[in-house]
Order: sequence, then C-alpha cells, then structure tokens
Amino acid sequence: MKDPALRPPPPGFILEVEHLTMRFGGLVAVDDVSFAARDRAITAIIGPNGAGKTTVFNCLTGFYKPTVGRLALHKDGRTWLLERMEGFRIAQQAGVARTFQNIRLFPKMSVLENLMVAQHNRLMRASGWTIKGLLGLPQYRAAEREAIDFARFWLDRIGLIDKADWDAGSLAYGDQRRLEIARAMCTRPVLLCLDEPAAGLNPRESAELNELLCYIRDEMNTAVLLIEHDMSVVMEISDHIVVLDYGRKIAEGSPVQVRNDPAVIRAYLGEEEREELPPEIVADLTAPGPAAIGPGAVAPVRDEGERQ
Ligand SMILES: Nc1ncnc2c1ncn2[C@@H]1O[C@H](COP(=O)(O)OP(=O)(O)O)[C@@H](O)[C@H]1O
Ligand SMILES: [Mg+2]
Repeated sequence: MKDPALRPPPPGFILEVEHLTMRFGGLVAVDDVSFAARDRAITAIIGPNGAGKTTVFNCLTGFYKPTVGRLALHKDGRTWLLERMEGFRIAQQAGVARTFQNIRLFPKMSVLENLMVAQHNRLMRASGWTIKGLLGLPQYRAAEREAIDFARFWLDRIGLIDKADWDAGSLAYGDQRRLEIARAMCTRPVLLCLDEPAAGLNPRESAELNELLCYIRDEMNTAVLLIEHDMSVVMEISDHIVVLDYGRKIAEGSPVQVRNDPAVIRAYLGEEEREELPPEIVADLTAPGPAAIGPGAVAPVRDEGERQ
C-alpha cells in the first residue's frame, strides 16, 4: 500500500518536522512548528525557558505522541515516520539518539560499561538472540571486540580513557556531560539530539564541547539537533537556528540572520525591559556582529506564572 505520508525526502535533509503540535490539556507546549534539519549539519533550537524545546525532543524520540504532526527521518534511502514509532524503535531502527537536560548515566556502572550498554542491541543481534551465541559464536566475539574498540575510541576522544574503570557517578560534572554524548554516539546514530549539553560547563569546557560537536558533525557524519542556552556555543557552531517562543516558531536562519531578527531580540528581552536599558546596550543588542545576543548571553528564565 502506498502511504501518502511517505513522499520522497528533499535531498540533503535528514529530518522534516511538519506542523508539530503538542497539547497538554489546555496548554499548547508546541504550536504548529515546522522546520527541517540538514545532513551533516548542526541545527540549533533556541528560545526562552518554557518555549517548548524539550517537548520537541520528546516528540522526536517517542517520549510523547504528538497531538498533530509529521516527523520524517530520512536514512539510507528510507523514511521513518517517528510519530508512529515506539521510542526504542526510534533509537534502534531510525538511528535517533539523545541526551537529557539532566544527566542520565548509569552512575554505579563504570565509564566503560556505560558505553558497552549503549551497544547492547548490536551485540544481541550478533548473538542471534541465543545463549549459544553469547557463549562463543565467533560472530558474537567479533562484535564484542568491535564494541570494546568503539567504546575505547570514544573514551579516547573525550579524554576519559584513564578513567574507564571509574564509576560514572564519581566523574566531574563536565566529564559526565561528555560521557553522555559519547554514550549516545555509541548507538551509532544518524541524528544526535542534545538537550542543553553546555549547561553548567565552564568556558573551557564549553569550548571543548564546541570542538566535540563539530567533530561529530564533520568526522562522524552525524547530524546534530542542539538545544542550547549558551550563545557562545550556539552562535559559533550552528549551521541553522530555529527559534521558539511560547511554543511557536518565531524565526529561523543562519546565526547572523537570527541574531539580528527583531522578533528574536524581543523574545530574549521584552520590549519594556529594552526601553529601560541604556542606549548603548540596546545598540549592542541590535548591532550586526557577535555582540548581538553574543557570547556569554543566556536566555532569560521565565516565570511560569507569566504564561497564565
Ligand atoms: N508532560 C507535561 N505535562 C504538562 N505540561 C508540560 C509537560 N511537558 C512540558 N510541559 C509544558 O510545556 C511547556 C514547554 O516545556 P518545555 O518543552 O520543557 O520547554 P523548554 O525545554 O523550551 O524550556 C512548559 O510550559 C511546560 O511546563
Ligand atoms: Mg528544556
């Protein structure tokens, strides 16, 4: 049967989000949002707290079933409609991996074990899902060796090879953040969704994160969808930026376009507050160049009450 939802993918794009809407009772957390993410690109989703960014990720990764919307993931000439799939299939079959706003490692497992668990499905497949396979089928042993090598490769890449045996929970915060990204990469995704990976990082760690994300895009050929408040990360490495406010898309474009978009400036700083600011700061915010919503700027935290 020909499914009308399966029309051919636009070349160069890995993800199409069309008319995504997510309602929680009376609250519209995401309101008719459409955007597309390119292959081999970092697409950022930014916006004030409560804008609906995490909800978009939750819809993409199967945590929530969208109220309305088409979420098409294009991989190896095939299209997966994520809104119709269970979360574990989205991870295993469509190749979408994610990290969370609050770190979710297995804290009592070692650093290496965290990366091995991420490859569990691959290993089980190699075992043929039988105990015989687990007990020594050459195919399984080869897959296991490959999994260990891949884990070691990532530990080396994120500078944690010397801490491979540590409990993940005993790592410094910045190390845990990097380990979470490595763990997601060990599932060999085609699309990596990162929810505020720079939160709580110091400037040196943020710079390292930039480098890691560019490496993932350029060397691992994995598309990245990035929710981030840290503008020094977003403006420097994003190829495309989508801006949400109160669940709606208010702007999208290159970093320069978005930085100078009056709707974005308004969302990040209410008109009234702007009028109270000294003129040189307003000029700075609206000027072209890196100063506008520039490095170090952070999206405002909105009081939930403000939404009522
Ligand atoms: N499971 C849920 N039930 C009810 N409301 C939710 C749920 N998840 C998110 N929301 C609401 O949806 C809005 C958007 O939240 P969220 O996507 O977490 O925003 P962001 O990640 O941009 O800060 C918020 O008002 C939040 O309270
Ligand atoms: Mg969030």
